[in-house]
Amino acid sequence: MIGILGGSGLYDIDGITVLEEKRVMTPYGEPSDSYIVAEYKGRKVVFLPRHGRRHKYPPHLINYRANLWGFRKLGVDRILSISAVGGINPLLRPGDFVISDQFIDFTKVRPVTFYEGVYTIKDEEDTKNDLVKEYLSSDRVVHIDVTQPFCPAMRRLLSDIFSEKGYRYHSKGTYAATEGPRLETSAEIKALSILGADVVGMTLVPEVVLARELSMHFASVSVVTNLAAGISGERLTSDEVIQMMHQKTEDIKSVVLSFIERLPEKLECSCEDVLNGAAI
Ligand code: HPA
Repeated sequence: MIGILGGSGLYDIDGITVLEEKRVMTPYGEPSDSYIVAEYKGRKVVFLPRHGRRHKYPPHLINYRANLWGFRKLGVDRILSISAVGGINPLLRPGDFVISDQFIDFTKVRPVTFYEGVYTIKDEEDTKNDLVKEYLSSDRVVHIDVTQPFCPAMRRLLSDIFSEKGYRYHSKGTYAATEGPRLETSAEIKALSILGADVVGMTLVPEVVLARELSMHFASVSVVTNLAAGISGERLTSDEVIQMMHQKTEDIKSVVLSFIERLPEKLECSCEDVLNGAAI
């Protein structure tokens, strides 16, 4: 089943039938909000706003583990993440979409793994019978491979959808994840640019890492809401980020609906093998 993690300003999806709203508790605490279980063209999909409705949680205080574990409990095994980013690469314009293929992690204070050795938190209610369950129940230390952190099959489908719709998009890009909640200095953006980052945001890590630790497929679509600090010479505001997300809402919904409709059951990738041989 597909899970959609919505970014700033994208809290509901029209065009799909909402079946129920589910509150889920997890051993990691409460997810950002209740999950919306919905149906579109006979396919079930689960939606979660990562900041919570009314934007309760700043990026560094989002309970990423609870959000991902909640998806697992509901049977989600593939996640499309929508988020806002600042553009660093000069080829990027506000309003462009980016399907990231890499990230660089500059976050600082977030729980980054489910696998904490002797400190591992377990879910006694977990009914699955898989390597996640096996590793967690035996307190294993796990080092997942993130050479290619995003699902290539989902990324390919997203590229097809964007090009068919004629939206301005970039089929790859390196996402620098900063801790926030403050925005960056112009020197930080210059440094990130030299390091090879194309966009900057505050939420994709540890989201993608935790999804991968649960053996899920994960792809990210970012909207360039602004040029990153120091690039345009203007002061940055949350207003412009929210305004651009609003402006792009219809395009995002249309991409999300095509994605739900067209994502094949069987994906041609190795995402589901990530836990094989990953534990010590
Ligand atoms: N920096 C960090 N996160 C962001 C930005 C930015 O410029 N724009 C939207 N999210």
